[in-house]
Amino acid sequence: MFEEGQYFAPVRRDAQGRVTVELARNHPGFADPVYRSRRDEIARLALDHHRGDPIPEVGYTEEEHEVWRVVSRELDRKHERYAITEFLTAKARLGLPADRIPQLEEVSGMLRPLTGFRYLPAAGLVPLREFYGSLADSYFHSTQYIRHHSTPFYTPEPDVIHEVVGHGNTLASDRLAALYRAAGQAARRVESTEALEFVSKVFWFTLEFGVMQEGGELKAYGAGILSSYGEIEEFRHMDIRPLDLAVMGTTHYDITQYQDVLFRAESLNHLEDVAGVFWSTCDDDSILELIGVAGRAG
Ligand code: TRP
Ligand code: FE
Repeated sequence: MFEEGQYFAPVRRDAQGRVTVELARNHPGFADPVYRSRRDEIARLALDHHRGDPIPEVGYTEEEHEVWRVVSRELDRKHERYAITEFLTAKARLGLPADRIPQLEEVSGMLRPLTGFRYLPAAGLVPLREFYGSLADSYFHSTQYIRHHSTPFYTPEPDVIHEVVGHGNTLASDRLAALYRAAGQAARRVESTEALEFVSKVFWFTLEFGVMQEGGELKAYGAGILSSYGEIEEFRHMDIRPLDLAVMGTTHYDITQYQDVLFRAESLNHLEDVAGVFWSTCDDDSILELIGVAGRAG
């Protein structure tokens, strides 16, 4: 049902302007009419937004704030145990509230003086070129809805917890923010769809689901691990591979479950030397060559 790169529920707008989010049959909120109308309402706000205007404010319900509180409490403890130091320092620097869902405009205002990053609202899937390209200008496209209350530990689609607790805290680090920007510059530079997908897969296996050796232990820095208090308990048991560009850029992943193949950086310097240098220098030809290397090896 979900395909690679298409984990967002499709958003439709009919001739009368009504906005409908099409949740899949197996989505945790599929049979919950209250949740579904919230999703429609929140998607509509993003569709009506124009860049440059303030990000629309969402009037979150008490039940939605409660989901944030539960997840924040669980993740606070698990981050201490499993997140890299760079993330923990950035998280302390940003200082997100734990007792309510912050508005994106508010998080944007906290982030911008730190690393220059700011948010843009997204109703659902943003095309690859636009999503990654915007990172070059320090814009991060973000959903505003929250995961269904029945599955706080993991959600099949990125939600405001993933975007803000996972990516937002990360973007408060100067070094990690620079890597996001470099990925954006790469996405702008490459021309072919094939090369763009390669760039996005390296992003997936690093900034979304990357793990890193630190102080003799395996820690997480990928936002997708750091926003799920279910998945964060499992990453150490997965198939952990060395940080290899040709392999990351050509490995298939299934977005509907915990990631079972992860790539380990030996340090933040190592990540910068491999992924950072790749994004800063790659072009269509160098990526074709890497795909060839992967083909010969595999
Ligand atoms: N599973 C993540 C969480 O529970 C959210 C998420 C869903 C996600 N799909 C993703 C994160 C794809 C990164 C990439 O927080
Ligand atoms: Fe993400």
